[in-house]
Amino acid sequence: MLMFKTQSEMETKEIAIKLAEMLHPGDVITLDGDLGAGKTTFTKGLAEGLEIKRTVNSPTYTIIKEYEGRIPLYHMDVYRLEGSEEDIGFDEYFEGEGVTVVEWSLFIESYLPVNRLMISIEKVDEQQRSITINPKGDRYEQISKELKE
Ligand SMILES: Nc1ncnc2c1ncn2[C@@H]1O[C@H](COP(=O)(O)OP(=O)(O)O)[C@@H](O)[C@H]1O
Ligand SMILES: [Mg+2]
Repeated sequence: MLMFKTQSEMETKEIAIKLAEMLHPGDVITLDGDLGAGKTTFTKGLAEGLEIKRTVNSPTYTIIKEYEGRIPLYHMDVYRLEGSEEDIGFDEYFEGEGVTVVEWSLFIESYLPVNRLMISIEKVDEQQRSITINPKGDRYEQISKELKE
């Protein structure tokens, strides 16, 4: 487990940019934390690191958005699936050619792959965030170690 404290949106994005450099097709990252914690901000940093040119916005009304980049990004926000147990073909994304990022992953817990990089963000105050990275599986443990350096 790895923890960062950030003091600004930019600092949060910088962690995500660094993480993006280590990612491969098929990687899965989950982002949990309250509304306004910084899940979408973190995703924007990942997109920047993946050299995605389009602006990444919260996909709340579409659940999944796909972006082209050095590696494609599949950005999910599954907030609206709370309690629905609905499978909208998650595996195709998790096993696809892109990196999948899932905001509010707790709502689709049973569909998530066992191996994943779990990130939770907590709002400490207006500017400060506590970012906890919990890797599941060897690959993500390795990524987590590299991120620490
Ligand atoms: N240290 C920080 N890290 C990330 N976001 C921050 C930070 N400080 C302030 N913010 C602000 O908090 C908000 C986070 O919003 P957003 O990323 O959309 O959250 P979520 O997707 O978790 O609902 C943004 O307005 C951002 O500018
Ligand atoms: Mg969001």
